[in-house]
Amino acid sequence: MNEEPLYERVGGEEFFRELVEAFYDGIATDALLAPLYPEYPDFEPAKDRLALFLIQYWGGPHTYMEQRGHPRLRMRHLPFVVGEKERDHWLTHMASAVEKVCDGRDGGADIAKELLDYFVPAADHLRNDQPLGLRP
Ligand code: HEM
Repeated sequence: MNEEPLYERVGGEEFFRELVEAFYDGIATDALLAPLYPEYPDFEPAKDRLALFLIQYWGGPHTYMEQRGHPRLRMRHLPFVVGEKERDHWLTHMASAVEKVCDGRDGGADIAKELLDYFVPAADHLRNDQPLGLRP
């Protein structure tokens, strides 16, 4: 497969900034997740970290790596509990953000599927409330 990276296909940075903006609109109203963010109630720094990570992950510039180092997402999520409930809240906000930015867009359904095909297992992988071997 020699397909253009998703970053290019969605037109670059702007798409990810909008996705992250919509995602944090949801997080800001979420009493379970909002207080976990280190700069709460200011989400601007967290928005920037997530947007830069996603831009890098989907084939854009590696600014995240330059600023934050290797992502090591499991390690970076260890300071707070990620259980099934947290995962589900996170995914609910991400799924509606994906829908918002993909709806009505050319090829939007395919883009939405690609994004969620990553987010769903990746969010599950970040669960850290039980040893991996004991997870249901
Ligand atoms: C696919 C799933 C996820 C991805 C790609 C993701 C990505 C990220 C990234 C890139 C950071 C910033 C790391 C840094 O540079 O310090 C971060 C931080 C964080 N994540 Fe996640 N995350 C995911 C799932 C979750 C879930 C399920 C929770 C639920 C509790 C969560 C809560 C947080 C919090 C509270 C922070 C700290 C704020 C921050 O440093 O930006 N994340 N995540």
